[in-house]
Amino acid sequence: MTFEPISSVFDAPSGSEISVRGWIHRHRSSGAIVFAVLRDSSGIVQVTMKKGNLPDEQLEAARSVSLEASVEVRGHICEDRRAPGGREVRATCFRVVGPAEAFPITEYQSEELLLDYRHLWIRSREQTAVMKVKASVLAGARDWLREQDFIEVTPPIFTQNACEGGTTLFKLKYFDRDVFLSQSAQMYLEALIFSLERVYSVTPSFRAEKSRTPRHLTEYWHLELEEAWVDNRGNMEIQEGLVTAMVERVLQERKEELLMLRGDITPLYDIKPPFKRMRYQEAIQRLRDQGFDMEWGRDLGTAEERALTAEETVPVFITNFPKECKAFYMKEDDEDPRTCACADLLAPAGHGEIIGGSERETDIARMLARMEEQGICTGPYEWYLDLRRYGSVPHSGFGLGVERLVRFICGIDHIRDAIPFPRTVSRAYP
Ligand code: 4AD
Ligand code: MG
Repeated sequence: MTFEPISSVFDAPSGSEISVRGWIHRHRSSGAIVFAVLRDSSGIVQVTMKKGNLPDEQLEAARSVSLEASVEVRGHICEDRRAPGGREVRATCFRVVGPAEAFPITEYQSEELLLDYRHLWIRSREQTAVMKVKASVLAGARDWLREQDFIEVTPPIFTQNACEGGTTLFKLKYFDRDVFLSQSAQMYLEALIFSLERVYSVTPSFRAEKSRTPRHLTEYWHLELEEAWVDNRGNMEIQEGLVTAMVERVLQERKEELLMLRGDITPLYDIKPPFKRMRYQEAIQRLRDQGFDMEWGRDLGTAEERALTAEETVPVFITNFPKECKAFYMKEDDEDPRTCACADLLAPAGHGEIIGGSERETDIARMLARMEEQGICTGPYEWYLDLRRYGSVPHSGFGLGVERLVRFICGIDHIRDAIPFPRTVSRAYP
């Protein structure tokens, strides 16, 4: 027997015979008929089992089958306005492949229970839709980057560097030494541009963030790029192109899922270049006008980013952050030396930061001075400083939080629902 995807029930001619398999998603029986909704990776379909259409013992098996059992069904495709999608399969053959115990997730469940049973909850329609969106987001990125001559590379996860500062590092024993889990592949990507010029990687990044917010994970997927011969302006153009390609791909491939997750998808069609640009100076002035107490030099937090983007429909770059609130590797802006040639990209409608990027300092003396100012000991960075000693080159790069972007695209409340097995301050199980 060959099995077709459930979605093909809605493409095949009415009346034709089909075999499908999947999991029992919903189930009820009334008198001589058993109704089940079957789920597979392609969708759902109603299946009816009626006395006389299939052997009695198969009808009994269908009547007593539990939710989430895996089954095989053969039958005829029939129009039925009451069924989801307007069609059903009238079974002539029904077989349980893997029976199920009473499923621990019922209709109304606490968030905590759903997280305890995450390994089962990821079967839900919403979770499935988010994972499909995420796959399209990544496929859109990879295809676009390839077209733009970027080469995908594979940086390490064990590292001795604190790319984004010491406060959010996970430290672990590495034989007789201490190492960290990577916060960012950036420095390794920088090393790779000297041969490959345009590189990117998709890796997990780790942040020991104590913050319990709807946008922080301790383990997240990081899409990072590094480009030789590109300044901060060019870097922002690459970000615009990339984010647009990712959103476009989702709109092409996953409209149905987006409609289910967020209802209105029209705002996503506004995500195209040019994005808005605003200097940090202007951003803090706006915030002050709204009553925020913002002094020069303070980084933007969740509340500030929300206020800045609440009314926006396109993403906004905030550029020229003061040097004191950004990392030592960022290049000073030639025209405004109090600031860095950098940009954070904020998603619209209050979502906040999805990308952090900058042009990189290329001069070793200036870099050493910044490190000293920030009290960073150079030991673990000797190899990184070498990149400024041997053929230093203007370059820029950025990091995009994949779950941050997916959360925005899907319009979901909490970032943990943008990853199948979320790791947060309070959770590393299942
Ligand atoms: O702004 P961040 O810290 O920048 C860097 O790590 C740079 N070294 C990247 C680079 O230039 N290659 O992080 C980049 C992005 C953020 O904009 C955000 O989208 C995401 O990573 N991010 C997080 N996502 C989920 N949970 C967290 N705790 C995150 N921290 C950062
Ligand atoms: Mg940042």
